[in-house]
Amino acid sequence: MGSAGGTGSITERLSAALESRSARVQRALGSPLRTTRMTVVVGRLLGAAFAICFVTGLYSHLLQDPLPWLPLPVAATHLYGWTQGTHVVVGSALIPLLLAKLWVVFPKLFAWPAVRSLPHLLERASLAALVATALMEPITGILNVLQWYPWDFSFRRTHFALAWVLIGAMTVHIAVHLPTIVRAWHAEPATTSSPAGPHQGAPDE
Ligand code: HEM
Repeated sequence: MGSAGGTGSITERLSAALESRSARVQRALGSPLRTTRMTVVVGRLLGAAFAICFVTGLYSHLLQDPLPWLPLPVAATHLYGWTQGTHVVVGSALIPLLLAKLWVVFPKLFAWPAVRSLPHLLERASLAALVATALMEPITGILNVLQWYPWDFSFRRTHFALAWVLIGAMTVHIAVHLPTIVRAWHAEPATTSSPAGPHQGAPDE
């Protein structure tokens, strides 16, 4: 009995210590630029850029592995030049956009408790998949442009498969944060900014 109570108080004290440490880290990393509004401003550019890369990449994939029931304008070589050029240019722009987005939300990654419930655990897992694939896609794409393959897997198959994981995880991410996105989309920059703890919204958002 006594030891169970003792263990409980140790975990409670540990959790309280981590919670106050996480609050301190978040305050220390606070910046007037790290606002929910800024997250949405960068996020919508990132979302648009990934959507453009997904559609142009799918078109390129279907030209190389055509589906019998889906005729595509194969003679339109100029069209492919434009779609593939757009894919590479917008895909390269993803790197600075991603770094900007991760910089803005960085303090949120220290939130404690890290997992609050089963739905929250699933959301964190899909966020981890989103960040990993969002970094992998432009990096492998740029290495492919350089014709440098420091890996054993097939670039095309992996790039294609990860694109689906990325689009799925991004859809979940947008759905989870939709109320925050809608609120911050048209907000004046000044209304969502405060020097101490600029990120707004419920912890779930
Ligand atoms: C591949 C693209 C993206 C990546 C890697 C990414 C990454 C992240 C990360 C790591 C967080 C912090 C989550 C947390 O710890 O609670 C976050 C939050 C957020 N993201 Fe994204 N995101 C992406 C796309 C988007 C898009 C397209 C939007 C829509 C505009 C968006 C809107 C938001 C919002 C509103 C938040 C919460 C900000 C807050 O609570 O202040 N994200 N994102």
